Amino acid sequence: MKRIYLRSSQGCYPILIGRNLLRCVGSLMRKVEGAHGRAPQRTKVFIVSNRTVARYYLAPVQHSLERSGFRISRFLLPYGSERDKSEGVLRGLWSEMARVPLERTSTVVALGGGVVGDVSGLAASTYMRGISLVHVPTTLLAQVDSAIGGKTAINLAFAKNIIGTFYQPKMVISDVDTLKTMSLREWRNSFAEVIKYGVIGDPKLFRLLELRVEWFFSSLRKKAFGSRVLSFLETVIWRCARVKATVVEGDEYETKGMRMILNYGHTFAHALEADSGYRLPHGEAVAMGMVLAAKMACQNGSLTSSAGERQRRLLEKMGLPVRPKSDRLSVSRLLAFMKRDKKARGGKLTFILPRSIGRVEVRRGISRERVRNILRAL
Ligand SMILES: NC(=O)c1ccc[n+]([C@@H]2O[C@H](COP(=O)([O-])OP(=O)(O)OC[C@H]3O[C@@H](n4cnc5c(N)ncnc54)[C@H](O)[C@@H]3O)[C@@H](O)[C@H]2O)c1
Ligand SMILES: [Zn+2]
Repeated sequence: MKRIYLRSSQGCYPILIGRNLLRCVGSLMRKVEGAHGRAPQRTKVFIVSNRTVARYYLAPVQHSLERSGFRISRFLLPYGSERDKSEGVLRGLWSEMARVPLERTSTVVALGGGVVGDVSGLAASTYMRGISLVHVPTTLLAQVDSAIGGKTAINLAFAKNIIGTFYQPKMVISDVDTLKTMSLREWRNSFAEVIKYGVIGDPKLFRLLELRVEWFFSSLRKKAFGSRVLSFLETVIWRCARVKATVVEGDEYETKGMRMILNYGHTFAHALEADSGYRLPHGEAVAMGMVLAAKMACQNGSLTSSAGERQRRLLEKMGLPVRPKSDRLSVSRLLAFMKRDKKARGGKLTFILPRSIGRVEVRRGISRERVRNILRAL
């Protein structure tokens, strides 16, 4: 098992990455409870998940918690999709928490992907002004990204992640065995974010991916999850989590600019996603966004074309798109979406641009004309 500690203003918490961890959720949580001076047998645990994830993984988690003396109640989110990040579902969660009733000393366990983590995190952070939260992420994206760093959110009809809090969990338990049931498309999409971590902060991770990606994806297609595959995954997740934890420690509340680098490729990506009516998967959009950002950096002369090429080749090897397929793309529509980007100021755009594989910079004040030229080249 690999372990990282994230030091936040709300406390220092462990991120555990390893195999067969679901069976140990109870004993791992008991240790944290002990550290907070609570008697574990009194503690109520509220497991939040959805039907898909519950079918595979609820029983081992629940049994493990029961064996450790916790009192369990549970809630399955109704849709099993992004629709669960809504006011209605959040209200349902709050009502159930009050009906149980959960107390100040209770803990919410978020068992699932980023959607489950985001909405149950928001519920945990607001119920009785905040009760304990433990993330048990079950998608690669959630293990490398959403379960770490304390952002919680729901969406409004036309604005994604617009309502939320910064609320750090007490612990993150990432069991790589849970990833075996993910679909190939989910794998690809999550890997776009993994490549992102390589480019923004870990050249060794990038190199590792270049060396092993073909072997890994051929194992995936054969559903051959031998110990070499799982230990490769453990290493990849650990390396990504390390980058994310370091960035979050440096800029927990996204006020200093550093946390912005996690949005590498995302300014273009969000516009492409919005333009597709959110039919384009996020990871695919990020892949294209990173290619565009690298192009911009190459034009500036701040990135060598060979580094840009390396990124493009790696994305292609994973089966990720490197340019939009649609011929109905409109440059002015994409620009209009970008103007609404949270990073935009006074009509000028901010981009995260790579300087090399492993290092990026925040570039502010990029004119619409520059962006228009890059998009036209598509
Ligand atoms: N809080 C943050 O910092 C942060 C960061 C990045 C993304 N996000 C959010 O995360 C969400 C995306 O997360 P995601 O990619 O995990 O998607 P998701 O949570 O929607 O999960 C994708 C699908 O996989 C299913 N699933 C989950 N685990 C599974 C497993 N082990 N086996 C089989 N199926 C499984 C889910 O039921 C769902 O249908 C978005 O809402 C995004 O906004 C949040
Ligand atoms: Zn993303």
